[in-house]
Amino acid sequence: MRLPDSEKKRLMHQYGPWALVTGATSGIGLELAMQLADAGFNLVINARQMDTLQATADSLSKTYGIRVIPVAADNAEPEGVEQIIETCRPLDLNLVILAAGYGTSGRFTESSLLTEINLLRVNCEAVLSLTHYFAQKFARQQRGGIILFSSIVAFQGVPFSANYAASKAYIQSLAEALAVELQPSGVDILAAAPGPVASGFAQRANMNMGQTLTPQQVGVPILKALGRTSLVRPGLLTKILSYALMTAPRALKVRIMGKIMGGFTGNK
Ligand SMILES: NC(=O)c1ccc[n+]([C@@H]2O[C@H](COP(=O)([O-])OP(=O)(O)OC[C@H]3O[C@@H](n4cnc5c(N)ncnc54)[C@H](OP(=O)(O)O)[C@@H]3O)[C@@H](O)[C@H]2O)c1
Repeated sequence: MRLPDSEKKRLMHQYGPWALVTGATSGIGLELAMQLADAGFNLVINARQMDTLQATADSLSKTYGIRVIPVAADNAEPEGVEQIIETCRPLDLNLVILAAGYGTSGRFTESSLLTEINLLRVNCEAVLSLTHYFAQKFARQQRGGIILFSSIVAFQGVPFSANYAASKAYIQSLAEALAVELQPSGVDILAAAPGPVASGFAQRANMNMGQTLTPQQVGVPILKALGRTSLVRPGLLTKILSYALMTAPRALKVRIMGKIMGGFTGNK
């Protein structure tokens, strides 16, 4: 799926000429980086593994004729976040896509506390720090857009992926509040809440997700939603799953999601 020319022009007009994409070497972040490159954006891209990051940067700049600056940094570390901010500071950068994140699964009592705390640092603390810096900058200049990654798991507790779902509930809540708070300053905040997407995510989270969308199916709907709404549930499968759950009482939703996640992770 490709962005229509009218959408490429709209994005460049509202948010160009530079964008930051974290988690840009795989899955949804990579797809969004490619779509923005195709629209003519210069990019700052971030992930931890330098070799993959450099290969992604080379491929994007060669294919689309844009400038790409790779920042190899672990967002779990405050120094990593600082490195991203310092790279972006001198650039005319008005669009931020915070896709770096990961999941964990299984029984909470059998999980590693260090891994779960690290997840909060990457999924929440780094996102908070980057959003704080860029929201202030964008509000001052009365222009900018920020896309945060929520999830279908963000709208109720999810047994067998409790901490990951809680991290996404935090992002969902942050995004929907900031969308209202920053609207008068001309800053667009979007929560993207996909259902299962085939990417590097499932392997790292140790989930076997069954039916999935591709990153290509969710990338364009996410970019089209920016500046038009504050929440997007990209793709038909995501919409069907989300709306099927919507009418159930919250306690029932938790149990249904527990059954689904139990199936993804071999837990009962
Ligand atoms: N896939 C799904 O089913 C799904 C559904 C709903 C929401 N989401 C959310 O969507 C976002 C993107 O997920 P995805 O499916 O595209 O995942 P993915 O394919 O696993 O990609 C994750 C990206 O983040 C980078 N990354 C991971 N940990 C990092 C860290 N500590 N510091 C910097 N970069 C890091 C990875 O590169 P390195 O490994 O080199 O660091 C990679 O580029 C995540 O926030 C995820 O929670 C995913």
